[in-house]
Amino acid sequence: MQEKLNMEKQSLKNSSLLDACKGMQTNFTPIWLMRQAGRYMKEYRDLRAKVSFIDLCKNPDLACEVTVTAAKEIGVDAAIIFSDILLILQPMGFHITYDEGVGPQIHNPVKEPKDVEAILDFDVKFELSYVFEAIRKVRSELNNTIPLIGFSGAPFTLASYLIEGGGSKNFVKTKQFMYKEKNSWNRLMENFSKSLSNYLVGQIEAGAQTLQIFDSWVGCLSRSDYREYVMPHMKTLLNSISKRVPVIHFGTGTSAFLEDMKEAGGDVIGLDFRVDLMDAWNRLGDIPVQGNLDPCVLFSDRDLIAKKAGEILEAVNMRPGFIFNLGHGVLPETPVDNVKFLIDFVHEWRVKNQ
Ligand code: CP3
Repeated sequence: MQEKLNMEKQSLKNSSLLDACKGMQTNFTPIWLMRQAGRYMKEYRDLRAKVSFIDLCKNPDLACEVTVTAAKEIGVDAAIIFSDILLILQPMGFHITYDEGVGPQIHNPVKEPKDVEAILDFDVKFELSYVFEAIRKVRSELNNTIPLIGFSGAPFTLASYLIEGGGSKNFVKTKQFMYKEKNSWNRLMENFSKSLSNYLVGQIEAGAQTLQIFDSWVGCLSRSDYREYVMPHMKTLLNSISKRVPVIHFGTGTSAFLEDMKEAGGDVIGLDFRVDLMDAWNRLGDIPVQGNLDPCVLFSDRDLIAKKAGEILEAVNMRPGFIFNLGHGVLPETPVDNVKFLIDFVHEWRVKNQ
């Protein structure tokens, strides 16, 4: 037992992903995929036929199984803990359901400042203990073969769900609240920065070796609004967790303010598929990047996947500090064989092209 514990405490010796996060050269390009565990996989669908999504997330044994099965099945260079960005909203006092075909719904959304004042204080370590427990189990199961990524949503993206009551196209309610109730908006964002900081530190303490922060919907903002309403809170959050493990700062549709995202913090910038990867990297300068194949390319055939992934790898030209990923999550109907083909293609590319 003691020996097992000592083994678990040992850190990973060879991780292409952790090296790339530090801007170091790697023997091959590391790859993992956002939403690599999900409905495109038969094992996941079979499990979901028996258990609801929330129950799955809250069961550390099952969450561990889904995390590890997905990473092993497709052969990626990191696992990401199976959970969801919205679960932290429950102990804050919000009622969430994940409805088939509709997506997540918040049934008591924030409509006015008093709803922000009514947000409950909670103990992250207690309320989200199932996530920490799942992380400990995954670390033990992976036995230092590949690193484990922990994650959370970013304050803006979580606030947008709270205010819209679910997903949104134009984020009218979110922006209206942000413009009209600036004090209350800032209180909400400060509340998130604090709880997310505790949550992410808890994930590191449980064994997460890298973190990704998903600001999935922040790209609906102008640059000036990003700087005024979001960046100060991202700075507080990212600063509070810096220098422990590498942090990947991801957003979609953020071409208008990539430099500001870098200024806000993080060790790696996650790029979506809309930007040209090298244009974005040259703008960002000296920081590792992750991205950015369009997830829809995986619905085509092997020739097109090879062409599009090859274009990215050729453009990167072995510049150190690159992590291959999709520009957003794997979509539910994606053929698994195409996912595996992409991963092998990225891994073998240097040997075949040097
Ligand atoms: O990447 C992984 O494999 C880890 C697991 C993970 C999930 N959600 C599982 C999940 C991660 C990292 C997330 C993050 C997440 N959740 C984000 C940020 C990433 C992004 O896509 O921008 C967002 C915006 C959410 C909120 C959320 N959760 C939505 C919009 C949905 C519905 C989407 C859908 O496909 O139905 C969820 C549910 C969800 N989260 C599923 C999974 C596997 C599908 C649940 C199911 O039906 O089984």
